[in-house]
Amino acid sequence: MTMQKKKLIIGNWKMNPKTLALARAGFSAIKKGVVKYKNTTVGIAAPYVYLPELAKSASSALFISAQTISSEKEGAHTGEVSVDMLMSMKVRWSIVGHSERRALGETNEFINKKIKSALRTKMTPVLCVGELERDAGMWYLGFVKTQLEECLAGIPKNAIKNVVIAYEPVWAISSTENHRDAQPADFQEMSIYIRKVLSDMYGSPVTVSVLYGGSVDEKNAGAFLSEGGADGLLVGRSSLTPKKFLSIISIANAIN
Ligand code: PGA
Repeated sequence: MTMQKKKLIIGNWKMNPKTLALARAGFSAIKKGVVKYKNTTVGIAAPYVYLPELAKSASSALFISAQTISSEKEGAHTGEVSVDMLMSMKVRWSIVGHSERRALGETNEFINKKIKSALRTKMTPVLCVGELERDAGMWYLGFVKTQLEECLAGIPKNAIKNVVIAYEPVWAISSTENHRDAQPADFQEMSIYIRKVLSDMYGSPVTVSVLYGGSVDEKNAGAFLSEGGADGLLVGRSSLTPKKFLSIISIANAIN
């Protein structure tokens, strides 16, 4: 069931921009623009190295998020960053299981550990799911079902409301070679299915936000939110240009 609540718009900067100065400038332009949109919740998932600096200017109108987290609490894990470290820097959100990290070898089981570690510390994980390709068959539904079942295994029903799901069909992500546009109906079908899978897993309907991600821009954002019924958007490329990102936020703001 889609609830009437503020649309959640998260910009996924991925490994961009090139310098801290550019990150600061982009963040501050978005922060300035976003204040007039009261019906949206907006965040930026920035590279780790920029987070401490951006945290200084994050506000209730613009939060910051990590793009991944360690599955471990602390210790001998070279190169990893823990949830506690991030929380101590006021980073209370993280994307988990993004397809670009899955492509590097992250499994559902590994992502499950990350989600559990986020929830232990009250960080909000944004779990990305989505099939690699679509063909004439319906196998993609089963693919996403397995992702959900394995990534959320052992997570109690009362914790699931603290997880955000982002449906990102990999074939529609802008960096995918020969990517194709997903349609609002593709999202709508999958979001209904995601809620059904969760309802089956937990024995009754659960409250969870389902975002759409994959080549979102100013032209298609409105349709994914209104026709598709998305609770929000995970925006990659278009979040790197403050003007474009703010247009998307303004569209989302008007839909509430
Ligand atoms: P895109 O990226 O908007 O550039 O397709 C979305 C994502 O990968 O999160």
